[in-house]
Formats: sequence, structure tokens, C-alpha cells
Amino acid sequence: MQAFLFDLDGVIVDTAHFHYQAWRRLANEKLGFDISEEFNESLKGISRTESLDRILAHGGVSLDDVTKEAYATLKNQWYVELVNQMTPADILPGIIEFLAQTRADGIKIALGSVSKNAKPILEHIGILSAFDAIIDGTKISKGKPDPEVFLKGAEELGISPSECVVFEDAVAGIEAGLRAGMKTVGIGQAEVLTKADIVRSDLNNFTPNELKNILFPEQ
Ligand code: G6P
Ligand code: MG
Repeated sequence: MQAFLFDLDGVIVDTAHFHYQAWRRLANEKLGFDISEEFNESLKGISRTESLDRILAHGGVSLDDVTKEAYATLKNQWYVELVNQMTPADILPGIIEFLAQTRADGIKIALGSVSKNAKPILEHIGILSAFDAIIDGTKISKGKPDPEVFLKGAEELGISPSECVVFEDAVAGIEAGLRAGMKTVGIGQAEVLTKADIVRSDLNNFTPNELKNILFPEQ
């Protein structure tokens, strides 16, 4: 076990509900329908444009490309307004301690997010320097569940995928980690993240060593 690759939204910071709020506002104010929290589950880990396509299909609305572009931009403006109000208190439980212990144990750390806002968010909450590599929406051409984001992370760290562990809150993200040939830790509910190697509600009171004993007992 030589590297950890972390998703951002819903794993490191509590931004998953900001994405939901901003998409819901767009659906309510511009599209004339509502989206449930359950439907939102299927948007986690999905790129901005693909998310909008899924929302439009869900509501049975079709739009021309220019309007779609304008709505995706509007959603992002609302999302960024919410994100700018974030403080370090929005870092999820146990993350700071887990990242510090990971570094102390000599395990490499990468970010693997399809968000184009990833870097400014990490800067905003003051933990950008915790990462040895950052793979975000500006560096990839295929969103999750494609494994590109995690394979690029492993490559940039110089670590073989079989020695990597992915931390994800999204069904599409767990799928991406598995397709990359990596172990996966689901952050959320076991009933939702059924394919993950293990699932925890958060990383509070958990250590890299405990994880190694579960995922790599032979090492
Ligand atoms: C993450 C989130 C998605 C979001 C995507 C793109 O994967 O889980 O909800 O749509 O990033 O984020 P962006 O900040 O670029 O719109
Ligand atoms: Mg996520």
C-alpha cells in the first residue's frame, strides 16, 4: 500500500450538498421541476456538462447547446458563491488527522476529482500542500466511472495502481477506482456503495495502518 487517491466533493469537504443545492436551484428556477436527494446520488462524481444532460433527461426537457452552456455557467456561479462561504469547519471529520498520519507513514497522496473547482477549493480551506499530485477536471478528458482520473494520479505519483487505494463517496467513483485496478474505500452508506472494498461513514478515528490490515493483510 503506497498511495492514496482522494476524491474531493463529499470525501474531503462537505461540498456534495452545495452541488445539489445549486443544481436544484437551476431545476426549480429555470427548468420547472424539482430534483430529489435520491436522484442527486446519480450525479455524484459526474462532470458538470454530463450532470446537466442527466438532469434535463430526468425532467424530460430538451435545450439547445447555447442555453445548456449558459445554464451550466449559472449553476457554477451559484455553486462558487456557496463554496466561497466555506471555512475549514467544512473539512469532513477525521480528514486532517488521516492525511497527516498518511504523510507520516510515507504513503503518497493525490487528489482525483473531475471538478474544475478542485484547486481553488483546496486553497480556500488551506490544505492544498497536503497533496503530492492534483488531478482535477482541467487535466482529464473522461469523467468517472472512466478510470482516467485515478490512473493519471498513480502515474504522476509513480506508483503502480495495485498499490493504490481510492477514497470515494460516489458510485461512479468506486467504479472508476475498481476499473483502474485499485482498492476502494467508500465514504457513505454501504447500501449505496455496494462495490467498495470497505465502506465507512467517515475517516474519523481511523488510521492508514488499520486500513492496510484490512485491504493488504499480507503486506
Ligand atoms: C465532482 C462532483 C460532481 C460535479 C463534478 C464537476 O465529481 O461530485 O457533483 O458535477 O465534480 O464539478 P465542477 O466543480 O467542475 O462543476
Ligand atoms: Mg465525490
